[in-house]
Amino acid sequence: MPVLKNISFLATCRDEGAQGDLHAIRDAALVWDDSQIIWVGREADLPEVYKEADELDAGGRLVVPGLVDCHTHLAFAGWRAEEFVQRALGESYLEIAESGGGIMRTVRLTREADSQMLLKHCREVLDQMVELGVTAVECKSGYGLDLETELKILSVYRELKDCLPVRLASTYLGAHVVPVEFQDNRSDYLDLVCHEVIPAVAKANLASFCDVFVEESAFSLDEARQVFAAGREHGFRPKVHADQLSSGGGAELAAEVEAVSADHLEYISDAGIEKMAAAGTVAVALPLASLYLNEAPLQVRKLINGGVRVAVATDFNPGSSPSFHLPLGMTLLCISSQMTPAEALKAATIYAAKAMGMDGITGSIEEGKLADFAIIDAPDPDQWLYHFRPNACFGTFVDGRQVWGQGA
Ligand code: NIG
Ligand code: FE
Repeated sequence: MPVLKNISFLATCRDEGAQGDLHAIRDAALVWDDSQIIWVGREADLPEVYKEADELDAGGRLVVPGLVDCHTHLAFAGWRAEEFVQRALGESYLEIAESGGGIMRTVRLTREADSQMLLKHCREVLDQMVELGVTAVECKSGYGLDLETELKILSVYRELKDCLPVRLASTYLGAHVVPVEFQDNRSDYLDLVCHEVIPAVAKANLASFCDVFVEESAFSLDEARQVFAAGREHGFRPKVHADQLSSGGGAELAAEVEAVSADHLEYISDAGIEKMAAAGTVAVALPLASLYLNEAPLQVRKLINGGVRVAVATDFNPGSSPSFHLPLGMTLLCISSQMTPAEALKAATIYAAKAMGMDGITGSIEEGKLADFAIIDAPDPDQWLYHFRPNACFGTFVDGRQVWGQGA
């Protein structure tokens, strides 16, 4: 039974109070037994019975719950650096997609890729995420769009779940865009998604969520309703790519279908905020995608004031967000969305865990939860996110086991 001592600031991030309430403990200690947290409090109050436990020293650093990246498109083949250049030269994300680039380009390459190559790519990314303090990741399909490739991607996630020390949740994103072969027959594509792929994914138990990109260039509200209804029949909870490039009622739809989260939301309406607050849908800010696409940043203050919990994620993908640096996303939120570091930390932990249905087991440091946490080389969250560095994480623990450490 290990005890971690000499913690200058322990952010428990319990799901109580406001977005910025970290329920922090200064000069703290943390005890776990096997994979479970059994005591957390001030070191001075450590019960006698734990004084014999195996001692670890946090060196006067900050301890936070393991970071949760609740929105990624992890498995894909090929990068799209030329589109990054094209955008720099003035072409828009949508223009690039219309001329054969964008999501469909990645679909073509991912269909050709074999599972081993995808597995290797995902493994390399996940290993680096763990080094940043990330302990749970949501991964979407959506670069296959046909039955075979969607199953291939989701099977890669399942294989990773079994062999890596990081918690994964999988999401079927068949409704990412209408693939070219169905361009003139959208309803046939929706039939494929609803009547073939969703049942096959459910039968093989390969996903917990289904997601739809609700956008003029992707799927309409009514089409999304069809997909979510079919998903629900097979036990998938909805998540929504909403109001990313235009205001299209995606947030309102997320509330209507009781989605666990609505993500992006740069163009959310006031009605959308109200409905999400009433439904308890978590808003997922994706500041790296806003930055890469040079979109106005999400108006986080409006969401928080409207009673919506805000999470943050990377949206890691080869187009709109070719970065998996979640702490960078947190710092960006503080700078461009006027979020405090404390609010950004709760966004990347307990609220992100909620956005991927894992808040019962991870996302906060509390007795009874799994011992997923990170030691950060900073005295407190303000200093950490203000003084941005390539990697401030000093050690990452999953299930009470150290899975990464500086110098280890
Ligand atoms: O979340 N918005 C839709 N999908 C991704 C982008 C995917 C891509 O460009 O390949 C996103 O931004
Ligand atoms: Fe996305």
